[in-house]
Amino acid sequence: MAVRVAYIAVGNIAGYHLASVKKMPDAEIVGLCDIDKARLEARQKEFGGEAFTNPDQMLKAVKADACYICLPPYAHGPAEMACVKHKVPFFVEKPISVNVKTAKKIAAAVKRTKLMAAVGYMNRYRASVARAKQLLAKDPPAIIYGGWIGGYPGTHPWLFDKKKSGGQLLEQSTHTVDLLRYLCGEAEAVACYAASNKFVSEAKTFKADCASTVAVRMKSGAVANIMSAWVCRAGGGVFLSLFSPNYRIDFSGWNHDVKIYHADGLHVEDIKGETNIFEIEDRAWINAVKAGKLNGVMSDYEDGLKSLILCDAANVSMSTRRPVKVKF
Ligand SMILES: NC(=O)c1ccc[n+]([C@@H]2O[C@H](COP(=O)([O-])OP(=O)(O)OC[C@H]3O[C@@H](n4cnc5c(N)ncnc54)[C@H](O)[C@@H]3O)[C@@H](O)[C@H]2O)c1
Repeated sequence: MAVRVAYIAVGNIAGYHLASVKKMPDAEIVGLCDIDKARLEARQKEFGGEAFTNPDQMLKAVKADACYICLPPYAHGPAEMACVKHKVPFFVEKPISVNVKTAKKIAAAVKRTKLMAAVGYMNRYRASVARAKQLLAKDPPAIIYGGWIGGYPGTHPWLFDKKKSGGQLLEQSTHTVDLLRYLCGEAEAVACYAASNKFVSEAKTFKADCASTVAVRMKSGAVANIMSAWVCRAGGGVFLSLFSPNYRIDFSGWNHDVKIYHADGLHVEDIKGETNIFEIEDRAWINAVKAGKLNGVMSDYEDGLKSLILCDAANVSMSTRRPVKVKF
């Protein structure tokens, strides 16, 4: 029998998860929920499924086996609790919330009910990341730097309102923060500074930090730096470089292509990032739902919560201008 899949929020990223599930012979799109009726109608025309504006009503009506939650960071809570109430395993896009308290409440409900819940940190599914993890397990990095540097993110008004998105570090560079955790273990403390917003010229409504840098002390003894910027129109890109005694591992670009330099100086590994990473991530999620086990899912809710907690600690440091201990 096909896996019955529902969606809460059907905006930009949901389009990718809808398209890959639509192609699966063993899955069926049964429900779509959004507060934007025009968008809902357009998605329904393209992907089918019954349309709703309330998650609870949808989950009551469609008997879903799994649900995607693709809400903006500020809107989490009721959707996840509706999945808990109706015992529907859910996949939630990163970041899991703008609010640590809300996310902890959801995490506790997920744990209490033993509900399957996955988080959309899709870079964990990449071959380049798997190879780096394999090498670094035996030869941990001493120093790491990474980040997301680009121009003004004009498409989503909620994105450059920090109260709604959590700011660039929590919303976007969270991908790099998550990889830092995945490849190097947990953080102990952070010290974060934001640049002056005198560099912003694009919009009067810009209510986030235009650039920031966070120094991270890792439990492993390593040190890292994660940079974020939304005011660099000439670009900068997505990058993550990890340096261990025997390897230099350079990820570059949204696809996370990697070049791995060995200390012997004799060879360089070159792995291209997958261009269909959401399909790979979605296949793993639907397989997990069919199996009733999170095997193959690279980030569960509790893990996603740790990436949120680390970004939130950096935000606290950014506003207090003091180092902050990371408490999971
Ligand atoms: N994994 C990735 O690389 C990736 C890429 C893009 C976005 N995302 C994440 O996905 C999330 C959504 O981003 P997006 O780009 O799709 O945003 P979007 O603004 O395009 O879509 C969000 C949708 O949520 C709907 N919505 C808002 N409040 C709602 C509510 N209470 N109930 C139902 N629907 C509601 C909006 O009407 C909109 O259709 C964000 O957390 C973002 O970080 C992840």
